[in-house]
Amino acid sequence: MRIFIMEDYAAMSRKAAELMAAQILLHPDSVLGLATGSTPVGLYRCLVERFKAGELDFSGVKSVNLDEYLGLPAENSQSYRYFMNRNLFQHVNINMANTHVPDGLTADPEAECVRYDELIRRMGGIDMQLLGIGSNGHIGFNEPADSFPVGAHCVDLAESTIRANARFFPESGQVPRQALTMGIGQIMQARRVLILASGREKKAAVRRAFWGPVTPEVPASILQLHPDLTLVMDRAAAG
Ligand code: PGA
Repeated sequence: MRIFIMEDYAAMSRKAAELMAAQILLHPDSVLGLATGSTPVGLYRCLVERFKAGELDFSGVKSVNLDEYLGLPAENSQSYRYFMNRNLFQHVNINMANTHVPDGLTADPEAECVRYDELIRRMGGIDMQLLGIGSNGHIGFNEPADSFPVGAHCVDLAESTIRANARFFPESGQVPRQALTMGIGQIMQARRVLILASGREKKAAVRRAFWGPVTPEVPASILQLHPDLTLVMDRAAAG
């Protein structure tokens, strides 16, 4: 595991953008596993700046997102498809047909999960998977559980996740209670994993995930077993 401890959120974002830009420059046809939430917003901003400066080309890049709320259409400003379009895709020259997010409006979540697994397999797997970490140690929406789920699946969100995400919704009762997420198996099969953590409220999760036992009660802890893991965090998260 490589660890970078950066001064603050802006420096963390610049470092992460450097690592992702290197991936794209070295492998312009990369499959990127992408994440939403407040943590990667600065990284996406840096990538957009580098694209606008003519330093990056997304035309060959493909993307698969980690997760999506069940029941939210792409046009809903809280959906993760909307987030990706607004924070990254619409500002760079990625082919929208090559960007993938689970379908939150599916009538058949199980079939959608099978489709998503198959899609990732057909794309040849993920070259670089970007992750944030939940304060309960979740990655994607893989919540603390008794075992590590392998493939994409539908989850009931933990109360702590619903509370944490309520800040994005006008009313807390509007946070969906279910989501579709990539499984831990898919994340672990990514060739490289880049995980970011920012802020004091992530300090305990970081400590438990990377300096504690590997356990499904802290889903991110399994990343200790990943052969190519980079953790970039700010001082507040490092503690
Ligand atoms: P955050 O979420 O980036 O909004 O803190 C991270 C996560 O829950 O995975």
